[in-house]
Amino acid sequence: MEGAEPSSSIRLSSVISALSYALDLTEGQPMGHSVQAGMSADEQADLYYALLLKDAGCSSNASRLFHILNADEIRAKGDLKTKDWTRIGWESLHYALTHVATGMPFLQRMQRLFQVAQTQQQDSCTLVKIRCERGGHIATQLGFSDSVSSGIYSLDEHWNGGGYPNGLRHDEIPLFSRIANLSQTLDVFLDTYGPEAAIEVARKRSGRWFDPDLVKAAASLANSGSLWNGLDDENLVQTVASLEPKHRQMTATEDSIDRICAAFAEVIDAKSPFTYRHSNGVADAAVEIGQWFGMNARGLKMLRRAALLHDIGKLSVPNSVLEKPAKLTADEWTVVKSHPYYTLEILKKIPGFERLSQDAAAHHEKLDGSGYWRGWGAEQLSRFARILAVADIFDALHAKRPYRDGLPLEKVFQILRDEAPRALDLPCVEALIASKTNSEPLAFAQPEIAVAT
Ligand SMILES: [Fe+2]
Ligand SMILES: [Fe+2]
Repeated sequence: MEGAEPSSSIRLSSVISALSYALDLTEGQPMGHSVQAGMSADEQADLYYALLLKDAGCSSNASRLFHILNADEIRAKGDLKTKDWTRIGWESLHYALTHVATGMPFLQRMQRLFQVAQTQQQDSCTLVKIRCERGGHIATQLGFSDSVSSGIYSLDEHWNGGGYPNGLRHDEIPLFSRIANLSQTLDVFLDTYGPEAAIEVARKRSGRWFDPDLVKAAASLANSGSLWNGLDDENLVQTVASLEPKHRQMTATEDSIDRICAAFAEVIDAKSPFTYRHSNGVADAAVEIGQWFGMNARGLKMLRRAALLHDIGKLSVPNSVLEKPAKLTADEWTVVKSHPYYTLEILKKIPGFERLSQDAAAHHEKLDGSGYWRGWGAEQLSRFARILAVADIFDALHAKRPYRDGLPLEKVFQILRDEAPRALDLPCVEALIASKTNSEPLAFAQPEIAVAT
């Protein structure tokens, strides 16, 4: 069976560690944070995977956090990790003042701040719960053991019982979660304030947030200089992949890569109600077009993967921009237009995805050069890229979203035809329409036919 074949000896960990860059984007951390956390891990295979996947649920609470804070949630998340939000005082107040409803007039801001303070406890719990459940679920879906998913599920529990979502204490918290929680905090402080500050914070929170024995272990590793080794290594992804415990090394099969793509499509779509099921919708439409062109099984498989991951760069766009009810400012529009660039940066790190990453990152390019982010034209756009561009617009217009109905098919077809062949590839548009209506495709033989634009 093709699906069980190893995919030219690509290690599963290389695929996951490359994709973990995307999770850093949604957490507001510099790229590499999830990977860095792996450096202080012991040789346990489950811990290794729990660390790689620990932020897999993060995109799902971005939308909710945005509505609570009413400001740029990526900036807020990045800063949150350096703040001790369990202590009420100046730090929390300062955090709230600089992050809550920052675009609103002062009075409205104070009102919003008051509401946030009242519901903070409850909201923190809900947010963490969404994230934990989603992260644990993705690990299970990827075929990892219960230890990995429960390690991710309990990542935000604190040693003294003051964490979320279940207020577990001491040894009730899985060891993996205790290590991951400590290492992500060390990593964030290392990045922002340097190694001494990182250990200092760990010591201060020892017994409250962290397992005191683990803090002691980290402090002694830091003293001997071995805790931070290799963190500024250019080839961090490869280095982390090489740390994978030998007895548990997993070679990526075609099936496991497909499962990872499907799981990350869920991560992408969970970011906002605006992207609800979009990645899967685009994948279905793209494959329909590919089938009309008689593409072989391998081509269709790669096309589906490219479609599932085409918007992975959207994890870098704050929900305050994605869900803004008003017109975007020029700066916000620039941020939106950068998402295919991040798609490329993330996907090109996956072994075997070199070509696919270029196609996926070209899904907003147009044949006449009017698209973004590179303004590529017909000569640069591959068949895959052209299919993705059509499938993307089709799903955006036709799919039903929680907040609105989709446009009727005839209207969508009209819009697509209006854009072809100037901006969209005419054969791709006609193939999709023919497939959706079970009819013979029109205009295949006349790609130069003038169509109103
Ligand atoms: Fe996009
Ligand atoms: Fe899209």
